[in-house]
Amino acid sequence: MGQEQRRIVVVGAGSGIGAGTAAHFHSAGDHVLAVDLCDNDTPATEHRRCDLRDPAQIAELLAAIGDGWDLLAYVAGVPGTAPAADVLKVNYLGMRLTTEGMLPRLRTGGAVVTVASVAALGWQQRIADLAGLLAATDPAAVETWQAAQDPAYPVYSTSKQAAVLYSKRLAIAAWQKYGIRVNTVSPGPTETPILGDFETSMGKELLDGVKATVGRHATVADIVPVIDFLGSPAARWVNGQDIHVDGGFVAPMSVGGPIPL
Ligand SMILES: NC(=O)c1ccc[n+]([C@@H]2O[C@H](COP(=O)([O-])OP(=O)(O)OC[C@H]3O[C@@H](n4cnc5c(N)ncnc54)[C@H](O)[C@@H]3O)[C@@H](O)[C@H]2O)c1
Repeated sequence: MGQEQRRIVVVGAGSGIGAGTAAHFHSAGDHVLAVDLCDNDTPATEHRRCDLRDPAQIAELLAAIGDGWDLLAYVAGVPGTAPAADVLKVNYLGMRLTTEGMLPRLRTGGAVVTVASVAALGWQQRIADLAGLLAATDPAAVETWQAAQDPAYPVYSTSKQAAVLYSKRLAIAAWQKYGIRVNTVSPGPTETPILGDFETSMGKELLDGVKATVGRHATVADIVPVIDFLGSPAARWVNGQDIHVDGGFVAPMSVGGPIPL
């Protein structure tokens, strides 16, 4: 409040974290464009439909919305219970095409915040494996790449690893060419409509174990302020980062376990 109104695109604004993000900025007085597959009543200034699996619809969206935006929050995502091609197209390729299309439409000093996931854990060990996916820039190439992968490896994790890796690689180029920062937010399990699908695809026991470790699942209200911060001028020197918002359960996994107290 009291600040200059900002212009914010929230992709995946129809439900869950995206709906919470759009409502948050809208209630702060910002101009919010809410984009989703389906019509919805998320509080926003304007609503547009777009199927992020379809590059032509993304191009149509981008052509229609003009420029002068301050933030792209790409929150849309589908779980591992969806067809593998859809998971990669929405969580990775759609994000990439939307982001690259938005860069010239964002003001200098603006930001991109993509919602990835703690399911991207291990992306550092998969940089070589993901090279082919990061070389794929259209749906057919993505499907061809996926067809050659081990079907036992969870495609949702692959999609989020690609989102983190892509964003980290893009960050310095976006900064140098456009003065735009690019970061990702990686939630742990969060109470939204998608959680049941995660229990199916990842295993309820695994998610219950996470809950037992940190005491509860996240709520949308735990995630939105981190998206807000990364998208704000207060984060002006934060670029190319992936921020886990998970109550802390992931951190000890890569550092040899927790300190006993
Ligand atoms: N909920 C969790 O436990 C959790 C944990 C980690 C990461 N995430 C990520 O958070 C993000 C938001 O998920 P959520 O939990 O709010 O789920 P959600 O299902 O409530 O919201 C996802 C939104 O994406 C939209 N979407 C899906 N496919 C689309 C398409 N083809 N075109 C346009 N829009 C499409 C949906 O319509 C929906 O509004 C996702 O990227 C998800 O992977 C969620």
